[in-house]
Amino acid sequence: MKVVAFNSSPKMDKSNTSLILDPFLDGMREAGAEVELFYTKKLKINPCQGEFNCWLKTPGVCFQKDDMQMLHPKIREADILVFATPVYVDGVSGPMKNLIDRMIPAVQAFFELRDGHCRHPVHEGHKYGKMVLVSNCGFWEMDNFDPLLVHMKAFCKNLSLEFAGALLRPHGSALKPMIEMGVPPNDVFEAAGEAGRQMVRDGRMATETLNTVSRELLPLEMYVQIVNQNFQRILDAVEKE
Ligand SMILES: Cc1cc2nc3c(=O)[nH]c(=O)nc-3n(C[C@H](O)[C@H](O)[C@H](O)COP(=O)(O)O)c2cc1C
Repeated sequence: MKVVAFNSSPKMDKSNTSLILDPFLDGMREAGAEVELFYTKKLKINPCQGEFNCWLKTPGVCFQKDDMQMLHPKIREADILVFATPVYVDGVSGPMKNLIDRMIPAVQAFFELRDGHCRHPVHEGHKYGKMVLVSNCGFWEMDNFDPLLVHMKAFCKNLSLEFAGALLRPHGSALKPMIEMGVPPNDVFEAAGEAGRQMVRDGRMATETLNTVSRELLPLEMYVQIVNQNFQRILDAVEKE
């Protein structure tokens, strides 16, 4: 089973996104998957230029010469795609949006009606796999993922991928301080690993496992207080410089 994963945090392997993504991918490897991980920061993926060349001049092929040339065959052949992104203003980060937009050569220009809704037929020979979303955000509440979830589910329908679920880590900014204080939420990381094993073994992830990944790390008011104290401390130190 082939897994292709993208981490679009600019902090790459030092990111809060990585703290959830890495054990998830380890779990997938343990269950026998062949996993390739790309950091979008290291990739050259230009924004889509909206020329529709990939639909109307060279169907299936974008005219831009960048890392999407290398990625297209990998994306096409993957059984599972993993899109990992921090929440940036209620959605994916910019580099991930570029990656998503640049995936449209995978479908044809034509419209077809599927369940009464406009869709694009996929190109012959394209294998469309499953997609898993991994995300974390700074705010405390789970509903901060709602717009992102709506977008990623719609993206899957648009490009004929199967949305297989999401590992969502609200108040993800609490993870590193907890690790540094010697109280790492190990059950959260273990659940991320278990979700990876389930995904490869069973083709789905259990709700209970995903709920553990998202579990409350500390009460809302306490989190807000700690975050604000930290910001104030940093601002005070900057002022003294
Ligand atoms: C430009 C920008 C926009 C952000 N927008 C949101 C947001 O809308 N909601 C939220 O909860 N967190 C938001 N955050 C906070 C990040 O999601 C949070 O710091 C996260 O832990 C960063 O993950 P990373 O370490 O994987 O990059 C934003 C951060 C940045 C830099």
